[in-house]
Amino acid sequence: MKGVILAGGNATRLRPLTWVTNKHLLPIYNKPMIYYPLEAMVKAGIKDVLIITGPNHSGAFINLLKSGKDFGLRLSYEIQEESGGIAQAINLAEDFADNGKILVILGDNIFAQSLKDDVENFKKERKGAVVFGKNMATRSKQYGVIEVKNGKVLSIEEKPEKPKSQIGQTGIYMYDERVFDFIRKQAPSKRGELEVTDLNNNYVKEGTMICKILTGWWVDAGTSFDELLKANILVAKEIKEESIK
Ligand code: DAU
Repeated sequence: MKGVILAGGNATRLRPLTWVTNKHLLPIYNKPMIYYPLEAMVKAGIKDVLIITGPNHSGAFINLLKSGKDFGLRLSYEIQEESGGIAQAINLAEDFADNGKILVILGDNIFAQSLKDDVENFKKERKGAVVFGKNMATRSKQYGVIEVKNGKVLSIEEKPEKPKSQIGQTGIYMYDERVFDFIRKQAPSKRGELEVTDLNNNYVKEGTMICKILTGWWVDAGTSFDELLKANILVAKEIKEESIK
């Protein structure tokens, strides 16, 4: 199975930090943000990873990550010319995916859990998709919200006014090879983007979307200065705990 990391978008919520820098190159404690999803791919046992980013900073990603050899990965790069949404970015991975299943991680998601077992299991499944959810302390309007009953996903709503559950949609997804057929049929949302939630709801409608709840901490570091700070603190804490073991 191959991996796809999304590192495009305009990151307007983190301005002025992101006026001249791509969000995914900002530091999270001792490493650039993009290192964390890359290391998650390594931990998951993925060897081939496509990085999708915008035209303005693609050179910086290549300068930083090169071929991926230092991570034990083979890296490829694609340019998303405008920020047309997460599903539009995923669509650029069609040739790379080469008719196989993919693990997608949004480049600003930083988390502790290894995805290795989930990836292994998904490879064996016949068809469908997996969305990773996170149990939130409260019902949050800040994320996609997943409604689950007896392990089955009933609905996913993008940043709803009245969240139906406390399970937030993280930026970690696994799709079968039909994902690109679904994206091709997708229409832009009211804000003009091809939304990942609309994409995921194709699998929900079909009854083939599974939700796995992440254990351990998870941060969407790109949403606000507070979340960015939280990611820095959690990573620093983890490194310090490791060093005294
Ligand atoms: O992180 C989890 C959340 O990610 C989910 O709960 C939401 O359902 C999902 O829509 C998404 O929401 P965000 O508001 O966090 O999305 P954002 O615009 O910050 O983009 C997330 C990542 O995807 C970010 O790393 C940049 C990348 N991206 C985004 C867009 C819109 C692209 O590469 N291209 C794009 O066109």
